[in-house]
Amino acid sequence: MADDDLRGGPGGPEVRSPQSDMDAAAGVDQGPERIHAEIEAAGGPRSFSGKQVRRARDLLARLYALRRAGRLYPLEHPAVTGAAHDLFAVIAAYHAEGTDVPLTFFEDEVLLGEQVLAEDSVLFDQLIRDMTAIGAGTVTFHRGLTPDEAERFVRVAGARFEEVSAGGGIRELAEQARLPHISISAVSVVRDDVEVQDQDAREAAKAVYTSALDLLRELERLIRSNQTLSAGHIKGTVRSLVDNVLRNRYAMLELSSLKSFDEYTFYHCINVAILSLALGSTLTRDYRFLSSLGVGALLHDIGKMSVDINVLNKTAPLTSEEWADIREHPVRGAEMTALTSGLDRAAMVCVLEHHMRYDLTGYPSRHPQRPQHVSSRIVAVADAYDAMTSRRPYSAPRMQDEAMGIIVRNAGSALDPTLVRLFVDMLGYFPPRSLVLLNTGETAVVVSPSPSDRARPIVRVIAEPGGVITEPFDVDLSDPAEGRDRSVMRCLDPTGANVDVADFL
Ligand SMILES: [Fe+2]
Repeated sequence: MADDDLRGGPGGPEVRSPQSDMDAAAGVDQGPERIHAEIEAAGGPRSFSGKQVRRARDLLARLYALRRAGRLYPLEHPAVTGAAHDLFAVIAAYHAEGTDVPLTFFEDEVLLGEQVLAEDSVLFDQLIRDMTAIGAGTVTFHRGLTPDEAERFVRVAGARFEEVSAGGGIRELAEQARLPHISISAVSVVRDDVEVQDQDAREAAKAVYTSALDLLRELERLIRSNQTLSAGHIKGTVRSLVDNVLRNRYAMLELSSLKSFDEYTFYHCINVAILSLALGSTLTRDYRFLSSLGVGALLHDIGKMSVDINVLNKTAPLTSEEWADIREHPVRGAEMTALTSGLDRAAMVCVLEHHMRYDLTGYPSRHPQRPQHVSSRIVAVADAYDAMTSRRPYSAPRMQDEAMGIIVRNAGSALDPTLVRLFVDMLGYFPPRSLVLLNTGETAVVVSPSPSDRARPIVRVIAEPGGVITEPFDVDLSDPAEGRDRSVMRCLDPTGANVDVADFL
């Protein structure tokens, strides 16, 4: 059942130099400009007029006033209800023009839709910090909003960080306030008034990974009992993933090597989402594109959740009927995505196309054939890498360098060559958390790739030749002075070497 492997390509268990394969692949790599153009085309035109963008200042001023009033006065105080009605009036002006009002608060910026409001980002820096701190990364006021609902919104807009934490998160607070026309994306609560330390980044990354796992468990339960999915819950989780990949890229990439045999599909979907977003974010920071990519990546194998578990877990070769059933999963997944109102079409396309292959020889077949969407090609690279490095019922995991070699050898056939190059640039030939054997006989854990040399990462030496554990020390193998005498020979199996990589990171 090697449906997400790349056996159709020239891959195999032998390990060749990824460098020589990369050089060969360079011939078909047309550069990232082509991908940038596709992302721009996928994003479509800006959805807000100049007048609507200028009006955003008034909107932000009223939101700030509501937050302030909500923190100073009881909810029924005229200052609060008045501020809510003022906010409602300006939102109603957008709604009268036929548009919802999506605001994003991220790092030091505020966005209306995809448009960064540069001046307003300076003027409303306190509001941006406040909204980010309570986890309200995105607030969208949908058409149909009523003045009463705007009044109830103060329970969220005026909340303090401590109240949000005590209440179980921003989404729970919003649910209690009953806000059917206001969607608020949960983001990991990271205070902006302190610099994000490594430990904080790791904790935030773990929290979002856990909530994504919970979401997928819930989705499977709903799918297996024929219930509908909630777009709001999915998009909220993806928003957190996007935020964390942009802020804590290394902490998230570290987590993307987590595996579970029993819950392979869930972990695989999250890892593919993280890897896809990390790869996508090297090309663009366009929120709409990344959100849609994240939804497509997280749900790419959702169609498998309707396949018989005995077939999914079968270790023996599949019958042709079972194989046909498995190969239906992109279509089934796309149908489920399409039936979930509120998820965009690009995410559905991504689910449908993730096994299509760059050369269009995959499945489902297309008539007439047209290129895979750029998001689908990103997910295809991430999917192949994570699948190959995971233990599945029918195959042992491959070492990271071996998987990377196969990815590289499939550049231009199964996989987009430009995206493969960017993927290798991002992770290196020996990705973070790989256990590696050095030419000196020492054992090391890869800490991070080197931006200057894909084959010479920064490593943490943990054992002397012969396997005697030593006091760990870091070496940048790309540094001519520091790392000249050492190089990586190959990846090692941590289980075989009896090493828990996490102990050394
Ligand atoms: Fe798949």
